[in-house]
Amino acid sequence: MKRKLLATLLSVAMVATVFTGCGSKAADAPAEDTKTEAPAEDKAEAPAEDAAEAPADDAAAGGGLVGVAMPTKDLQRWNQDGTNMKDQLEAAGYQVDLQFASNDIATQVSQIENMINNGCQALVIASIDGDSLGTVLAQAKEKNIPVIAYDRLIMNSDAVSYYATFDNYLVGKTQGEYIVKALDLENAAGPFNMEIVTGDPGDNNVNFFYGGAMDVLRPYIDAGKLVVQSGQIEKDDVATANWATETAQARFENILSSYYADGTQLDVVLASNDSTALGVANALAANYTGKYPVLTGQDCDIASVKNIIDGKQSMSIFKDTRTLAAAVVDMVKAVMEGREAVVNDTETYDNGTGVIPSYLCEPVFADINNYKELLIDSGYYTEADLQ
Ligand code: BGC
Repeated sequence: MKRKLLATLLSVAMVATVFTGCGSKAADAPAEDTKTEAPAEDKAEAPAEDAAEAPADDAAAGGGLVGVAMPTKDLQRWNQDGTNMKDQLEAAGYQVDLQFASNDIATQVSQIENMINNGCQALVIASIDGDSLGTVLAQAKEKNIPVIAYDRLIMNSDAVSYYATFDNYLVGKTQGEYIVKALDLENAAGPFNMEIVTGDPGDNNVNFFYGGAMDVLRPYIDAGKLVVQSGQIEKDDVATANWATETAQARFENILSSYYADGTQLDVVLASNDSTALGVANALAANYTGKYPVLTGQDCDIASVKNIIDGKQSMSIFKDTRTLAAAVVDMVKAVMEGREAVVNDTETYDNGTGVIPSYLCEPVFADINNYKELLIDSGYYTEADLQ
């Protein structure tokens, strides 16, 4: 199929407004050989040498070059996402240019620019800062290269065709509900002391994680049943730049020494993900001797699952990255073949240029009672990974 024809088919597909509803099996069937280990090497993947010359005709035959831009190798989850995407796209017959950007926005922009110039026919991007890709993606749009936002919504760009993620609001809501249950907030007299840690302000997901949790917890704060001794409640006050463990740890050490050093009991910490929960756990280990608080997280990173087993973290949200990759591979196939992709949400994710048709995978929580079934029986980890 020639590029022009592909472009025409694509625009026809994009203009079509009817998207199929929920219930697709797309996300339920990850390719069998997906891996969860982080690649040992710290080197960004180079595309196959002749990748740039891949003829556009490949698209019709299920082939073609796909650029996959991931934010960083520093966090386990993006390594898994990158590996899953590469494995599954290659299994579907595509060539893959996979890049990690060390959480540096300029690096990610130039990686995407290279992908465009090297002839990538579709881009899958997990942005570092959702607001910083407008200019480079205008080039993609110019060349009719479809863009799929991966996990994090790309803001204020009309080049984004689709978005695939987990239900981010449900992630936050599930964390909030876990806390309500763990402290029996409905019945217990309290008050309970709580602190809050969320993620990077440039990550649109933070609005949903923080928002979903606070929709559940704020009524208890307003009623005085949950007390935030530090007074740091609003999103900007509890953000963690780059989701960095060290940054969360430093902030939490300050909180502990300023508000809990006198023996005040800390009952619960809402942490939006595992990298920040790890920072909290490190700070607690060195600076806190009271009864260990309820501590939430997200991603089921190995370090956090180990902490769950050791009683140092209460729960984590399990987002099976194999499932997300499978859904995105289906989207890639659709856009490469000029078809509409399957989506199940056409209301929630407005990126400033309009609502982006989205496929939301379902997150669930893992804790000491169900982690074996969710994580080991499903083949996500082996017993040995968690020792
Ligand atoms: C992802 C989380 C992850 C966080 C930090 C978010 O956008 O949805 O799964 O923990 O980024 O990398």
